[in-house]
Amino acid sequence: MTSDPVRLGVAGLGRAFMLMVPTFKTDDRVKLVAAAAPRAESRTAFEAEFGGKGHEGVEALANDPDVEAIYIATPHQMHVEHVLAAAKGGKHVLVDKPLSVTMEDADRMVEAAEAAGVHLIVGPSHSFDAPVALARQMIESGEFGQVRMVQALNYTDFLYRPRRPEELRTEEGGGVLFSQGVHQIDIVRLLCGGMAERVTAMTGAWDPARPTEGAYSALISFASGAFATMTYSGYAHFDSDVWMGDIGELGAPKDPAGYGKARKALVGLDAEAEAKLKTTRTFGQGSAPAPATRHEHFGPIVVLCDRADLRLTPEGVEVFADTERHFVEAPVPAVPRKTVVDALVAAVRENRPPAQTGAWGRASLEVCHAILRSAESGESVRLERQCSTTGEEKPA
Ligand SMILES: NC(=O)c1ccc[n+]([C@@H]2O[C@H](COP(=O)([O-])OP(=O)(O)OC[C@H]3O[C@@H](n4cnc5c(N)ncnc54)[C@H](O)[C@@H]3O)[C@@H](O)[C@H]2O)c1
Repeated sequence: MTSDPVRLGVAGLGRAFMLMVPTFKTDDRVKLVAAAAPRAESRTAFEAEFGGKGHEGVEALANDPDVEAIYIATPHQMHVEHVLAAAKGGKHVLVDKPLSVTMEDADRMVEAAEAAGVHLIVGPSHSFDAPVALARQMIESGEFGQVRMVQALNYTDFLYRPRRPEELRTEEGGGVLFSQGVHQIDIVRLLCGGMAERVTAMTGAWDPARPTEGAYSALISFASGAFATMTYSGYAHFDSDVWMGDIGELGAPKDPAGYGKARKALVGLDAEAEAKLKTTRTFGQGSAPAPATRHEHFGPIVVLCDRADLRLTPEGVEVFADTERHFVEAPVPAVPRKTVVDALVAAVRENRPPAQTGAWGRASLEVCHAILRSAESGESVRLERQCSTTGEEKPA
């Protein structure tokens, strides 16, 4: 079915937006019509590339009558203000993960979207990756019985990519939990039905020069009876992409000769120079990521069901059934991150929201906080704000 393209405004023309540019350039179901960015160079670059209007502030963007929906790609701690402005202007929202830093802000955002009658979608996140969607479909078909256990691992150089100072302060949303853990939590929740019950976790903050959590291991149980372990390290030593056929997170081949480049790029930089280096990766300054030849992924993931184990790969899902094994390919579409646009279009044009709603994003955020709390207290933490894949919520 074809319909008019969704007229999209963008708040924040930084790294996250850069990663969406290939999608916006190739998917004619969305049209970028406006942006808000504090830096004049970014606004000029946007207008030159996409036409449309560059606003200085998000409020003006939210009041722009040409805009139907807004993709919010500003720093985590600003999401609340920008989602509230968008909802007040009557615009649907796609907000990059995490929904917010605090649960209170998450509540305000969910309530504002509901009151304004607009969709609030939290994405992109790796839970939109096609192999994750394929595994979910296989699980929902019932062919392999119930999900019993999930293992998700990821070892990256996250902590040593150039950062704004607050990205290294946990209380402001820094560290691996809010930026990376939330991807893993979204994926695991999607595969296990969404309703997490308890979390037991430990975290590591091992580099005094970057004093925030760079690693964690968490054990999480679900209402369905399934349980999952999630392990993440952003300390830039072992790189689990070697277990993914040297395909990087964004679906492009990774050159093993590039090992160590994140740490090397930071040598001798103070916080200000590092933040400046980060802006060289933003729209109008940085170069686009290498084109994806496979699907994006978030490290090795294995789903154990009654009658088969499912291994997610950048190409699809490998099925290890009782007496045979086979591979189900997820064809790579011409449009990268097509599934994110699928979700946006279905919500805005057909009033069909994806699993990753505001309430869903709040539930994943609750797990991030629970991991931190469990690590601090040494106790397991009960979850109270969960949401299923079909949108049922556990009352507060
Ligand atoms: N899904 C992904 O693949 C992915 C990747 C990177 C970042 N992110 C998420 O995107 C968000 C932004 O992170 P980033 O790494 O792109 O940061 P960034 O610093 O590269 O970009 C943020 C941008 O927001 C702009 N900005 C700041 N205040 C603003 C305002 N008041 N109005 C409009 N624009 C404003 C900045 O100028 C900057 O260009 C974070 O929440 C992060 O978790 C997602």
